[in-house]
Amino acid sequence: MATIIDNYAFRKLGLKHPLIVAPMAGGPSSPVLVAAASAAGALGSAGAAYSSPEEIEKFAAQVRQRTDRRFAINLFIPHPIPQIDPGTIERAFAATAKCRAELDLAPAPFSGPYAEDFDAQFEAVLRTGPAVFSFVFGLLTAEHMRAARRAGMLLIGTATTPEEAQLLEESGADAITLQGFEAGGHRGIFDPDAADGEIGLRDLLALTVPRIRVPLIAAGGIMTAADIRAALAAGAQAVQMGTAFLATAEAGTSAPYRSKLRESVRTTRTTRVFSGRLARGIENRFMHEMDAEAIMPFPAQNKFTRDIRSASAARGSADFLSLWAGTGQGDLWQGSASELIGQLFSK
Ligand SMILES: Cc1cc2nc3c(=O)[nH]c(=O)nc-3n(C[C@H](O)[C@H](O)[C@H](O)COP(=O)(O)O)c2cc1C
Repeated sequence: MATIIDNYAFRKLGLKHPLIVAPMAGGPSSPVLVAAASAAGALGSAGAAYSSPEEIEKFAAQVRQRTDRRFAINLFIPHPIPQIDPGTIERAFAATAKCRAELDLAPAPFSGPYAEDFDAQFEAVLRTGPAVFSFVFGLLTAEHMRAARRAGMLLIGTATTPEEAQLLEESGADAITLQGFEAGGHRGIFDPDAADGEIGLRDLLALTVPRIRVPLIAAGGIMTAADIRAALAAGAQAVQMGTAFLATAEAGTSAPYRSKLRESVRTTRTTRVFSGRLARGIENRFMHEMDAEAIMPFPAQNKFTRDIRSASAARGSADFLSLWAGTGQGDLWQGSASELIGQLFSK
């Protein structure tokens, strides 16, 4: 099997396997999962997009208590948020009135800020100094790139089209995650309002490999050793897997989410209802019942649905939870992440 160890940038990481266990913000990538993945010879990734600077530092310290291996921290590149008028907020409350009533949630006043401050998060990443900083939803500014380089970090951006990959390469990214349409979680599309090109991983690799020189990391629907071999044979230097690790013992995935993941067939689609940005997850009531016309832009919608998602999880119900998962099928491994990694690279 060709490995990323052949590549200089990746060789510095000292990985045993050409595998990045995906950053999964919102709980699944627990410090225990990140440490277990890195300790097993892959690259564990902290999904820190929703974390405060203090939480980022605490998370990194928890990983380091468990392993001295290298790991990544991942953030969302911010975009200007359009002004949200009171009428939009009113419509969003009306569209969620039924589910809030079902969850006994009183509509609390809703206002910004809608997300953590990126610069403060980035400063925390610089202070913790992971080996890799990975990002999604666009380009890192030249200033941030310089600061990350001074701190010795490798920079990995995310592309959903060959054009986005080109922009990332031109910006100086060390490697690029190619996210196929099959992928679970948020689509990494740069422009939050753009239509999804819906390019599957195989086509994305075929279109991108000939025009990009930096290492490409294949993501989306990769579940087995054969999937990994196919991605590497198609020109990827490594793979990034999320869904396959969601049910591992170390993942911070909630109980109702885990039980949906265990269903024999997972029916997924992309939706904006939970966060305002397109993301792929298992179909549930919130996807079906939420009025598509009453969705606020990202990340306002994400903040707006947080109490709904938390209340749903607290009740053990998957009805109103975001159940991010890719199109890959098959039983998910429920043992340890290191056993899964061992199986994936056993030959
Ligand atoms: C639960 C979940 C959360 C995710 N959160 C993030 C994230 O915070 N940052 C990111 O870059 N990608 C995130 N992703 C996308 C992964 O990086 C990756 O593209 C995807 O998991 C690959 O497809 P797969 O799930 O079919 O393996 C997430 C995916 C899942 C399933």
